[in-house]
Amino acid sequence: MTQSAQADANRVVIFDTTLRDGEQSPGATMTHDEKLEIAELLDDMGVDIIEAGFPIASEGDFRAVSEIAERSKDAVICGLARAQLPDIDRCWEAVKHAAKPRIHTFIGTSPLHRAIPNLTQDEMADRIEQTVSHARNLCDNVQWSPMDATRTEWDYLCRVVEIAIKAGASTINIPDTVGYTAPRESADLIRRLIETVPGADDVIFATHCHNDLGMATANALAAVEGGARQIECTINGLGERAGNTALEEVVMALKVRGDIMPYTTGVDTKKIMHISRRVSTVSGFPVQFNKAIVGKNAFAHESGIHQDGMLKNAETFEIMRPEDVGLQATNLVMGKHSGRAALRDKLRQMGVELGDNQLKDVFVRFKELADRKKEVYDDDILALVTATSDGDTNRLQLVNLAVTCGTGGPAQAVLEMEIDGKEVSATCEGDGPVDATFKAVRALHPNAARLQLYQVHAVTEGTDAQATVSVRLEEDGMIATGQSADTDTVVASAKAYINALNRLVVRRGKTGKDVKEISYKDVS
Ligand code: KIV
Ligand code: ZN
Repeated sequence: MTQSAQADANRVVIFDTTLRDGEQSPGATMTHDEKLEIAELLDDMGVDIIEAGFPIASEGDFRAVSEIAERSKDAVICGLARAQLPDIDRCWEAVKHAAKPRIHTFIGTSPLHRAIPNLTQDEMADRIEQTVSHARNLCDNVQWSPMDATRTEWDYLCRVVEIAIKAGASTINIPDTVGYTAPRESADLIRRLIETVPGADDVIFATHCHNDLGMATANALAAVEGGARQIECTINGLGERAGNTALEEVVMALKVRGDIMPYTTGVDTKKIMHISRRVSTVSGFPVQFNKAIVGKNAFAHESGIHQDGMLKNAETFEIMRPEDVGLQATNLVMGKHSGRAALRDKLRQMGVELGDNQLKDVFVRFKELADRKKEVYDDDILALVTATSDGDTNRLQLVNLAVTCGTGGPAQAVLEMEIDGKEVSATCEGDGPVDATFKAVRALHPNAARLQLYQVHAVTEGTDAQATVSVRLEEDGMIATGQSADTDTVVASAKAYINALNRLVVRRGKTGKDVKEISYKDVS
């Protein structure tokens, strides 16, 4: 084999499903504009295939997949469809606008999943033949998945994979839907399928691992050793339950350990940190501090021995450079005299490109912050960008907040808001300043939303650090998240809560079936 043929054989395709499998995790719903933004970032960072959504699931999903397809540049745009002809037609209607469209259709093949639509093995085999052929007649790039493959009987798995290949699928994805497999088994399964199934050499095998036992990334990499050449993953490992294989983990593992895993991807790793932060913000899922690659502590060194080693030679305790994932050393950036051009420049260095209006907005907030905060760091600026990207509406707005709290008695919040253009105010007492503030918001905008999550993170060090607050609300099964940043934690909390309520208002007004109501089992 020539060197370049070998290089091609070792190229691993990165299939990102943040916008489909990731968005399916309860509470991670993103707005239309946020989905477009994330898709653009994925395309720009060199992801090969973007699974943009599940078009039949809702009008919103359909619109998002269509628009992502229209705007796509280099990436293949894929939509998900169950093994039903109307699903596949709807999926095609959405992805056909892409320069490179793909239909991904699936059905649960394990005994547990076959029992739900009550199909015999033969009936399901016929369904697979019929639906994959139908997809192939519409689109020349079809992916097929036997859901729960790792708990499907071996003989039946081989049989249905062969049927899907014969019917025209060019990618066969082998999902570990419940995160049940382990690395050796994951590698063996792919290897044996390639050795056994007629026609396997003509298709690409993909691996799709969930993280229920914390082995998703290890299982995906093992599958590559077994012959898989497509890894399905999400940014920050977002996904149902314990999530999916994390894109940043597989890409960096292949980059850092190319000596023992000689596989390459087309991902520009310098864009990892920015997209990780954006996904965390728009999904409302904070990244755990000790998360590999993108966690706040991934490049932090606390102990004296480590710090000493780092000062002498960074390689003593770091196997990759922070710059490789787009992390700048935390440095003092600008003060209150810096201008808009300098801010744009700084943002560009951090991989953030803003339109003129957005920049204007961030600049105003930057000036306010520089007035209040002695030192403005890169992370402070990123937090401002994040907080500026609002949802689809701004019907509720914070005008003014004054809070009294301390040891003397209950806290009191005096809140002024603008709701649908009208100024209103309320005074409420509560168990602490945040409780009093949230009660005041509820007094002005009565709602039955339940607070599912309230989280505060300091953006940088010091008592004048900005706080990023995440709020997750649930109302009648609808979930909305909000985030905001401010040097005043109570103000950030109020804004995050109001931001989440604004998104809930948008969601209430939307018609059509929500993706969470469509079930995989609904396949017959
Ligand atoms: O986990 C899974 O099995 C899936 C399929 C729809 C591919 O996400
Ligand atoms: Zn999945």
